[in-house]
Amino acid sequence: MTHPEPSSATDQLADSITVHVNLAERSYDILIASDSLSCVAPTAESWYMQRFPSKDGQRSALVVTDRNVANHAETVLSSLVDAGWKAELEQLEPGETTKSLDVISRLYDCLVAMKADRKTAVIAVGGGVIGDSAGFLAATYGRGVPFIQVPTTLLADVDSSVGGKVGINHPAAKNLIGAFYQPLGVCIDTSVLTTLPERDYLSGMAEVVKYGVILDADFFGYLEQNIAGLKSRDPGVLRHIIARSCQLKADVVEQDEYERTGLRAVLNYGHTFAHAFEALAGYGELLHGEAVSIGMLYASRLAEKRGLIDADVTARQRTLIESLGMISRLPPGSDFTADAILDKMKLDKKTVAGQLRFVLPTQMGHVETFGDVPESDVRAVLAELA
Ligand SMILES: NC(=O)c1ccc[n+]([C@@H]2O[C@H](COP(=O)([O-])OP(=O)(O)OC[C@H]3O[C@@H](n4cnc5c(N)ncnc54)[C@H](O)[C@@H]3O)[C@@H](O)[C@H]2O)c1
Ligand SMILES: [Zn+2]
Repeated sequence: MTHPEPSSATDQLADSITVHVNLAERSYDILIASDSLSCVAPTAESWYMQRFPSKDGQRSALVVTDRNVANHAETVLSSLVDAGWKAELEQLEPGETTKSLDVISRLYDCLVAMKADRKTAVIAVGGGVIGDSAGFLAATYGRGVPFIQVPTTLLADVDSSVGGKVGINHPAAKNLIGAFYQPLGVCIDTSVLTTLPERDYLSGMAEVVKYGVILDADFFGYLEQNIAGLKSRDPGVLRHIIARSCQLKADVVEQDEYERTGLRAVLNYGHTFAHAFEALAGYGELLHGEAVSIGMLYASRLAEKRGLIDADVTARQRTLIESLGMISRLPPGSDFTADAILDKMKLDKKTVAGQLRFVLPTQMGHVETFGDVPESDVRAVLAELA
């Protein structure tokens, strides 16, 4: 991580942190700052110049957002217009249904109407839904136009805006239609998180906790020691946890960009259980991060049962999750049977030939993938934590 010199024109970037994602010619920077939305234009401009050194003439951009964050998108739009860009704003409905072909088709029409060329940037201002959809638009229009992410949820800051996965849903399955497409850069402003509803904030925090458990025991310790700052959304604490999370995910993505070597699977800690819980609860009932925080505790208990870790590793996760106000058990009324949960797990795309695979901790800060977990152990954990 580098701490760039503050620019005199952009005091807002004084305490910024930059994480570099190293992917050969697709490398890019993630800038993490506070009160920096009005700096999107100069930042985008500098990324542009690095990628398209010979670019001259008019710069243009389509800013894609949703209704709940339209005010933040307006700030980005003004910053671009003031800097001489030809920029337009397209506001979508909030929610998962926006990740659809119909919406993408409408956005293609917007690009055509503004006579977009292959140097017209698509700028996503929003959570994972906007980032995934706008990213898919950018990946496919004209076989790829420059894409910039301005994430506005904690989940988008630490997860969906890192790694290059973009896509939309098909009625048959979530994220079925997509691509790997790296952005030109990601501009994170922690101050936009002040308006994020508590449930969404804590849902994103589950992925932050996950990075500590899977890759960095010291980072897990930092979270344990900064409960108050995390709960009050302290800008300095947020910049640190977002930067560290992005760096940890980037380290994994750099080694397995296209999910081919299996290394990227470590990011799925807690997710085998989580995906089953989400599916059984009905999508939308249990937020993804809520399912992940519960799923991590199940996976950790399973690791204990397999003799991989001491009970203390699970206890620390439970204490941290509960201290932050995140949910640690399935909501009352979710009486899913073990058979139903196992059936959903076997449908998970990570399952190989019907054999369940679990990412389990072997110590705090390290996980491994196991394809040999007996179903009886999984059933025992499900019965115990039900
Ligand atoms: N591409 C990836 O690698 C990846 C990884 C994880 C998740 N995802 C995807 O991300 C999506 C979920 O992302 P999400 O949790 O950010 O959901 P989201 O984009 O739906 O945002 C959650 C809610 O918060 C609102 N919101 C966003 N920012 C706000 C702010 N600053 N203030 C007030 N309200 C705000 C949104 O309008 C929405 O209602 C899913 O579609 C998931 O598939 C993608
Ligand atoms: Zn997740």
